Amino acid sequence: MKITIVGVGYVGFCTGAGFALKGHDVTCVMRTPEKAAAINAGRSPLYEPGLDDELNKIVGRFRATTDMDAAVASADAVFIAVGTPCADDGSIDLTDLKAVSAQIGTALKNEKSYKVIVVKSTVVAGTTEEAVIPALEQSSGKKAGRDFGVCMNPEFLREGRALEDFLHPDRIVIGELDKQSGDILEKLYAPFSAPVLRTSLKTAEMIKYVSNSFLALKISFANEIGNLCHRLGMDPYEVFKGVGMDSRISPHFFQAGIGWGGSCFGKDVSALMYKAKISGNPLLTLESTVAINKNQRKIFVEKVRARLGSLNGKKVAVLGLAFKADTDDIRESPAIDIIRELQSAGATVTAYDPKATENFRKLFPQIAYAPSAKEALQSGTDACLILTDWQEFRQLTQSDFPTGSYIIEGRKALDQKNVRFEGICW
Ligand code: UDX
Repeated sequence: MKITIVGVGYVGFCTGAGFALKGHDVTCVMRTPEKAAAINAGRSPLYEPGLDDELNKIVGRFRATTDMDAAVASADAVFIAVGTPCADDGSIDLTDLKAVSAQIGTALKNEKSYKVIVVKSTVVAGTTEEAVIPALEQSSGKKAGRDFGVCMNPEFLREGRALEDFLHPDRIVIGELDKQSGDILEKLYAPFSAPVLRTSLKTAEMIKYVSNSFLALKISFANEIGNLCHRLGMDPYEVFKGVGMDSRISPHFFQAGIGWGGSCFGKDVSALMYKAKISGNPLLTLESTVAINKNQRKIFVEKVRARLGSLNGKKVAVLGLAFKADTDDIRESPAIDIIRELQSAGATVTAYDPKATENFRKLFPQIAYAPSAKEALQSGTDACLILTDWQEFRQLTQSDFPTGSYIIEGRKALDQKNVRFEGICW
């Protein structure tokens, strides 16, 4: 089938590339001609391991353009994958979503063939019906469910493995305005071998938020229990190994550490909490989830401060700036709060990250950045902090660390056979 993707962040781009790898013909629409030219030259606009290799396989059925009208006219299905950033009050900002919906509606105006408009962006329950469909109908002069179809199809992609998650989903959730729309979308997903859940538009919207919020809650629970286990002298990873053997619980997402970051968990948890609060049903579990996550970073810095006596004038090396391994993304990264606290306490910081240094330097131009982990460590004569679980840190040995330096991990990244260190909760 012919697919158009509007919005080319990591969700839109990996969704488009994934559909093309499954044999569909895909056009990505964006605002900047330069970005379109780079994609048409086979260059990915974002870092995802292995993505460039996959792009070489889809030349000829994966293209980029700035021409919305042509991209809508040629499509059987048009996916909206624009960002829905978090507003200050915790609600989601629908500016881009509404603008793109209106543009797509305008492009639909003169179309004769039936097309399905699919919301892939993460939106709170009710948004597709209350914001997207009105914008589409108003600008097209047509009727949703009659002249064109509407679906809501949430994504469950993790950064650093977005393409893999797209190609091997646990489930495909299809929220549909009407059966015809859902049938077309289910046919589009036919090459995927995953269970399909057909449901209403707002149920599909809610499934996304509840999934992400539960994952964040599960991590915060692991961190609270991790802090307790550490105090009681046991390894929480051993505890959760046993807990996770219960098929109702699963061992996944129990990695206790400095907590969750990234552009999704914080935004999605805030948006769900906001929607719940204005609906008169505040979510106490999520209030605790956020509080525990914020506090975990404070606990980490307090452990360093307690061991060094004071942070003022101390030399600290930081390995890992990205919010997790295999991405260059630093949004909501624990490293931001931790380095900000170290700086305000008067410590001198030297940092290293395999991929995220340039992004982090924009936020913290005044700290030192080393070209390798070993060079960064040489500057950490008082303390060495490990904040991201990059695989390359596992090769480090005791001799790579300055003698006498306090080594503390926020993620299980070092090999305890090679290095003596403390963990935030192990
Ligand atoms: C998440 C969801 O997993 C994905 O389904 C959704 O579509 C987008 O949000 P992402 O934010 O890319 O994906 O990363 P994820 O791998 O979920 O990790 C999120 C954060 O939680 C990272 O900071 C990670 O380090 C942390 N984490 C993850 C833990 O602290 N412990 C864990 O056990 C797992």
